Amino acid sequence: MANIVDKYRNTRSSVREAIKTVRANIQFAAMDKKIQTLVVTSPSASTGKSTIVAFLGVAFAEAGKSVLLVEADYRRPNLANIFRQRPGNGLLQVLSGDYSLEDAIAETKQEGLYILDTGGKVLSPAELVQSKRFEKFVETARKLFDVIIFDTPPMGAFIEPAVLASQADATMLVLQPGRVQVSVAEATMEQLKKANARVIGCVMNNCADVGSEHYYYYYRYYSQSQAENRKEIQIERPRPVGVERD
Ligand SMILES: Nc1ncnc2c1ncn2[C@@H]1O[C@H](COP(=O)(O)OP(=O)(O)O)[C@@H](O)[C@H]1O
Ligand SMILES: [Mg+2]
Repeated sequence: MANIVDKYRNTRSSVREAIKTVRANIQFAAMDKKIQTLVVTSPSASTGKSTIVAFLGVAFAEAGKSVLLVEADYRRPNLANIFRQRPGNGLLQVLSGDYSLEDAIAETKQEGLYILDTGGKVLSPAELVQSKRFEKFVETARKLFDVIIFDTPPMGAFIEPAVLASQADATMLVLQPGRVQVSVAEATMEQLKKANARVIGCVMNNCADVGSEHYYYYYRYYSQSQAENRKEIQIERPRPVGVERD
């Protein structure tokens, strides 16, 4: 299977346009407060988070940003794999002080885009992301990179995404229509709200049930204050911005 950077470059231009629209919306959301750290999560498994994280990373790097993608799905790490990397070192070595962040990251085929793998088996992910050392690592990353994106496990199953979301400048959800129940998506929003996360929007990925082709959609984006004014988060029919994957 191809490296995800090649996959992005070779995919239909409409998909790249959809990803660039997401990138632009993240930048628009930055108007009231700068977004440097972004958490990408979902209510349930396999909605395409890692794919969207990787594509967005390439899109930001193509726009001249220095970008770090952080593997934060400690049970099923997948980022290094989709970039066809075997870094060996990663977050654990940074936290233990054995490696500097610069030495633990891995280059990708896209200039300006780097990934930070786990560096081994993480035994207590929830404790790890709440540790002082982790906080320090994020501080260091902020000094070195323009954009830092955390690829996380689904919210329903684990606590780390909510913890990371509470610390990050912004959080984005990846949903698959037809695969997520409205009640589950709402419970996710409720959990993020409790964590004081700033949810800037959702990406509707792979809307295969909408037509015969696979579709990427950008759903909607709203500020935390708008979300607070709502009694509940409405799941509305998404507005299509791009079509067909590959
Ligand atoms: N829009 C899409 N169309 C078709 N396949 C997709 C799409 N988005 C993701 N996939 C595939 O679905 C699988 C799960 O995607 P992944 O990004 O790993 O999801 P997650 O990180 O949420 O578990 C991967 O094999 C990926 O290539
Ligand atoms: Mg994943």
